[in-house]
Amino acid sequence: MERTFLRIIIRTLRVTDIPALHKMYNSFSGITKRFFHPGFLGVENINLNWFFVQMALTLSTTSILKRLLLGICPYAVFLPLVAVNEQNNVVAFAFLKVKRRLLCNGFSAMLGIGVRDKYQGKGLGSMLIEAIIDVARREGIQKISSSVLTDNVVAVRLYEKYGFKKVRLIKNGDAWRGHKYDSIEMWLDVSNSGS
Ligand SMILES: CC(C)(COP(=O)(O)OP(=O)(O)OC[C@H]1O[C@@H](n2cnc3c(N)ncnc32)[C@H](O)[C@@H]1OP(=O)(O)O)[C@@H](O)C(=O)NCCC(=O)NCCS
Repeated sequence: MERTFLRIIIRTLRVTDIPALHKMYNSFSGITKRFFHPGFLGVENINLNWFFVQMALTLSTTSILKRLLLGICPYAVFLPLVAVNEQNNVVAFAFLKVKRRLLCNGFSAMLGIGVRDKYQGKGLGSMLIEAIIDVARREGIQKISSSVLTDNVVAVRLYEKYGFKKVRLIKNGDAWRGHKYDSIEMWLDVSNSGS
């Protein structure tokens, strides 16, 4: 899939984008990282899990392997999108990580999204969410969850705009650089969201 926005293209992550993805994450401001720190981006938190996730991300960039994994080990599957500018720099990233197989068929997945600071507030996050919801529909993801810090007003508004509902408040639900933060769990029922 490929979408053009101003001079930015939103497309599926390619294996060759992975170094640029880490570079983008390393360039995020402190506040952006406080709001979005999935634990497998950048060089701040390298551990065994970090390496496993790099492998899962890499496998998920090949559609045949992704399909195979969805059948035999769906919890290792990432559905990642990037936004790249004219210089081919990654300026935003969104991913779905498959979490559960649902009784009613299909999967639930966790959503993560981060836009480079100077590209925020220009509609790119909205474009990425629309694109990732399309991906969810195509790949059989029925429910999408996200955990948002309570003071992340922009992300809460963005998610609500696309039909996510606040489900519960989690006291000290997130930790970052030695501090704990309250978070909100939000869910989207993909089949009930606009097409
Ligand atoms: C949250 C984030 C992904 C949104 O992407 P974005 O490109 O900045 O968002 P958009 O420009 O598409 O705006 C989306 C909505 O957010 C709200 N919004 C945007 N800028 C805002 C601001 N400065 N103040 C309040 N609300 C704002 C608006 O409701 C807007 O929709 P609208 O313009 O149709 O009203 C991006 O800001 C980001 O990466 N933030 C840091 C990391 C993060 O918070 N990730 C999410 C973790 S859960």
